[in-house]
Amino acid sequence: MKKFPEGFLWGSALSGPQTEGYSLKEGKSASTWDYWFKENPERFNEKQGPQITSNLYENYVEDCQRMKAIGLNSIRTSIQWTRLLPDGKTLNPQAVAFYRDYFTKMKENGVKPIINLFHFDMPMWLMDKGGWETRESVEAFRFYAQTAFECFGDLVQDWTTFNEPMVHVECGYLQGFHYPAIVDIKKAVQVAYHTLMAHVKAVQTFRKLMPQGSIGIILNVSPSYARSQSAADLKAKKAADLVNIKSFLDPAVLGKHNSDLVELLKNNQLLPETLPEDEKDVAANTVDFIGLNYYQPSRVQAPEKASFPAKTLDDFYQPYDWPEKKINPYRGWEIYPQAIYDVAMMMKKDYHNLPWFVSENGMGVADEERFMDDSGMIQDDYRIEFMKEHLSYLHQAIEEGSNCFGYHTWTFIDCWSWLNGYRNRYGFYRVDLEEDYKRTVKKSGLWYKKLSERNGYEE
Ligand code: BG6
Repeated sequence: MKKFPEGFLWGSALSGPQTEGYSLKEGKSASTWDYWFKENPERFNEKQGPQITSNLYENYVEDCQRMKAIGLNSIRTSIQWTRLLPDGKTLNPQAVAFYRDYFTKMKENGVKPIINLFHFDMPMWLMDKGGWETRESVEAFRFYAQTAFECFGDLVQDWTTFNEPMVHVECGYLQGFHYPAIVDIKKAVQVAYHTLMAHVKAVQTFRKLMPQGSIGIILNVSPSYARSQSAADLKAKKAADLVNIKSFLDPAVLGKHNSDLVELLKNNQLLPETLPEDEKDVAANTVDFIGLNYYQPSRVQAPEKASFPAKTLDDFYQPYDWPEKKINPYRGWEIYPQAIYDVAMMMKKDYHNLPWFVSENGMGVADEERFMDDSGMIQDDYRIEFMKEHLSYLHQAIEEGSNCFGYHTWTFIDCWSWLNGYRNRYGFYRVDLEEDYKRTVKKSGLWYKKLSERNGYEE
């Protein structure tokens, strides 16, 4: 039996825009997703947009009971900036009432809410002014954070500022996947910097308003593994870790920018614009905990040809197709559970063993109805196996002293996923889009209940 520490959080992760629906109703204004879908629905898988998603807005009371029914003792989800403050200044009473009741219902069902403020959902009114490219975004976000702490701070003690900030930087400004879908490395660095300062200012506000609470940030930590031990490949690996891990983890936990990253940016004439007081604010506003999302590692190699100064990330490192990798055949992502041990030990060694939790880990499956049995239940043994493999490495790291306090899967119910719509299913509950968003528990949900009740599992 693999037992986990007492009080371990067995949870799941969600986000507001991916589950709530009602995307332009009840006073909510448009985020970049609402705007982009209206302008360009073909970009979205099967033209599935953000309007309805999993319709949690109408189902949250029963959904909170469903959380309890599969043993979840924690949920981390996000609130939507565009719902709480539709124009950035005016409080939306319907949003306050909805979120207050949602968090209350979670708690009545024994589910601890960990609430995140931003999950890729930039308000369109702010994007029209330049979004994260402008310094104005820092104060706009700080004000939103303050409003959220004031409205819900009596119900929610544990907060996070951003989910995977490097995703809106890379997908929006380097890879053309998310709005505004431009490729401009200089802008990408400035966007990352303003996002970091928005996080710092939110933490500073939190310390004043909620001295008893805890605050963190959620980072997608995909450790990179080099193709070979050659100096060039190792240099590429180092650059990948600087960009993808240390860019946010160092300032958030250690209160300072990573000096090698600063050097790399400087050499490539990529340093962002800053204010003189920023460094002091970064140093004074470190986090209480970290959430780490892990799906797959990144395999890297030295670029064959690189521009100098760099124009894209490819000039620092390039993806490497490791021939021995094990693949999730239903999503195409690599399965490499050992990496969860590696990041856990990195937290212990390089980040003074700060408390942290797995804030997302999960297995996406396309066309999952093919695994439905005659009773209508998805027999997702592959997902149980995936969780066991990852939990086994996590358990080992905890035994060796890594300070991990919880494991959150992606996700509780099947949810809408940006450009991929409902292509990849991850939930413990299937959501039937054809049958009024009916929820049906999957085999993995029943397994998770046992896991949570026993605080561990039989190997
Ligand atoms: C995570 C994001 O990285 O990946 C989620 O935080 C997203 O928002 C999830 O839904 C799964 O992504 P995909 O592309 O497989 O649907």
